Amino acid sequence: MPDDIRDLLTISLQDIYSAETQLLQALPEMQDSASSKTLKQAFGDHFRMTERQVERLDEVCKLLEIEPEGETCEAMQGLVEEGEELADELDEGPVLDAALIGAAQKVEHYEIASYGTLISLLKAMGEDKAVGLLAETLKEEKETDALLTKIAEGEVNPAAIAESDSDDEDED
Ligand SMILES: [Fe+2]
Repeated sequence: MPDDIRDLLTISLQDIYSAETQLLQALPEMQDSASSKTLKQAFGDHFRMTERQVERLDEVCKLLEIEPEGETCEAMQGLVEEGEELADELDEGPVLDAALIGAAQKVEHYEIASYGTLISLLKAMGEDKAVGLLAETLKEEKETDALLTKIAEGEVNPAAIAESDSDDEDED
């Protein structure tokens, strides 16, 4: 494998490894802040899913003889920070839930982009086993994103709008 491609692969894997481990730190707090039972459950499920995704990354790094730790994903730091700032500004309830879903979907899209790029690179290298492992994770990230949209549209957004409407009436 050419050195610069190996460098790119190393940096990309270490970046997403850092992103996933940061998310493991953030998800319990997001779960605590959520009011909707469905959303709490989704964050809890995604926490356990993320643990398995980190294990898969360990496995991929082992296959490719790459050290998984070494980078800090600044993008994930920023996404988590923005989510926390929003959470600080909003009271618990459906509007905060809508904000939490937005923050989580930005995270999922970052991960979808990262895994998609990695998979394409690994495909070109003929690293089929690593591709298979990361494709499983990519599928989970897409499913999580779709689930969050479903919770937003089916439950949280209508509740957030209803709450805001009743707040307006209270003010009259
Ligand atoms: Fe993930």
